[in-house]
Amino acid sequence: MAHCSGLLILLLLQLLLRSPSSAARNRCVAAAEACTADARCQRLRAQYVAQCLGPAASGGCAQDRCRRALRRFFARGPQALTHALLFCPCASPACAERRRQTFVPACAFSGPGSAPPSCLAPLDTCEHSRVCRPRLLAFQASCAPVPSTPDGCPRDQAPRCLRAYAGLVGTAVTPNYVDNVSARVAPWCHCGVSGNRRDECEAFRGLFTRNHCLDGAIQAFDSLWPLVLQEKWNSLQDLEHSRLQVSSADRPLEGCCLLTLLLVLTLQPQL
Ligand SMILES: *[C@@H]1O[C@H](CO)[C@@H](O)[C@H](O)[C@H]1NC(C)=O
Repeated sequence: MAHCSGLLILLLLQLLLRSPSSAARNRCVAAAEACTADARCQRLRAQYVAQCLGPAASGGCAQDRCRRALRRFFARGPQALTHALLFCPCASPACAERRRQTFVPACAFSGPGSAPPSCLAPLDTCEHSRVCRPRLLAFQASCAPVPSTPDGCPRDQAPRCLRAYAGLVGTAVTPNYVDNVSARVAPWCHCGVSGNRRDECEAFRGLFTRNHCLDGAIQAFDSLWPLVLQEKWNSLQDLEHSRLQVSSADRPLEGCCLLTLLLVLTLQPQL
């Protein structure tokens, strides 16, 4: 029976890590698994998930604590892994939906309220916040289009822009993906009723929604897909493949666990 349970554990591990081809199809799953494999990333993620999904005393969610935990995740987590979770390139709605849900938008982004407010509200809150204001200024400096360069973006801006964008997650102007069919992002607000501050409102929202520098930086993440992550992932795969080959070569399947194995295979989650 020892053979049987050993094989079962290896198979479970293999299913957990999944195959390289499915990881290539859904990079957000690969990013999540790479975070799980890293103790610090995993601990910081568990902390924000606990804060963002934990109920507040008043019902709803504890948005302040959720956002603080998210800022801690990006400040202290390994950047290759935190950015992989935030910017994983997607080719399918399933992947993009996972990406959209990664940072618990129901608490951190839109909060419990159903209708988005005018962008002037989060913008004013941000400008009066010692945490948010410098981050928004950094985002403007590293992501806003500039007329003086050939491509209209700050020079060598992509990595700095992505860092600055990540720095906004967990602030009053937390951005997120707006749907699961595009990589478009926006903060949770609109400019419909902004009166005489309409231009200010549109300029702020446009930094997210009409910004080819930000779009380009997010798209470029595909080619920047961190080597660290790639290597971490490959080494995990190699390890599991070699173990599975060894174990299946010298341990024939026994009737005892065939049923369990079939059950496990049936329960394998669809990507
Ligand atoms: C994508 O979003 C739509 C609308 O919110 C939703 O109905 C659909 O289930 C989502 N797709 C996936 C794959 O989650």
